[in-house]
Amino acid sequence: MQELQVKPLKYEALNGLSSTQLKEHHDVLYAGYVKKLNEIRAKLAAADKSEANASYSLYGELKREETFTANGIRLHEAYFDNMGGDGIPDGAIQAMINEDFGSLDAWKEDITAAGIAARGWVITAFDLTDGHVYNYLCDTHNLGCIWNCVPLIVLDVYEHAYFIDYATARKKYIEVFLQNLDFTIANEAIARNNLIRLRTRV
Ligand SMILES: [Fe+2]
Repeated sequence: MQELQVKPLKYEALNGLSSTQLKEHHDVLYAGYVKKLNEIRAKLAAADKSEANASYSLYGELKREETFTANGIRLHEAYFDNMGGDGIPDGAIQAMINEDFGSLDAWKEDITAAGIAARGWVITAFDLTDGHVYNYLCDTHNLGCIWNCVPLIVLDVYEHAYFIDYATARKKYIEVFLQNLDFTIANEAIARNNLIRLRTRV
């Protein structure tokens, strides 16, 4: 199996998020998940499947942590990727937010509240089930996730994402995250997945 590689950061620092904060998060935490998923997959290839057991088995624990680390990688890559912009939406993402939340401010109010309530993540996702956009809360990488969705905007609210720069001031960090959002990434996901067409069909 091909080894996963760490995806480099597109920027050194952001307005309101220091290089130290971002490097600790990216180079240590996120890169750690990449290393661990490679290790888990190598161990899974050699694990004894005949010992599989729901209370404890090496195979079961490896499968469990495979979901944790794989989602940890995907969510972190989306999070780092969707920062580095000017925080001003346009195009399809702007239209979907306006239609499904009423206004940009209403979406911001909702993602901020969800970000304060969450223990891990908030994902503005296009739900393929009904063709609408929601802010979904995910307490940890592999708990609370909803299937059949395309993530458009990903917000990390684990303390490690902001504690160096903001200590316990999570709301201020979310404000800074929104100011640095690169909405072109969401628009690319909408185009790549043909979501405008799917939205009008549902
Ligand atoms: Fe994180």
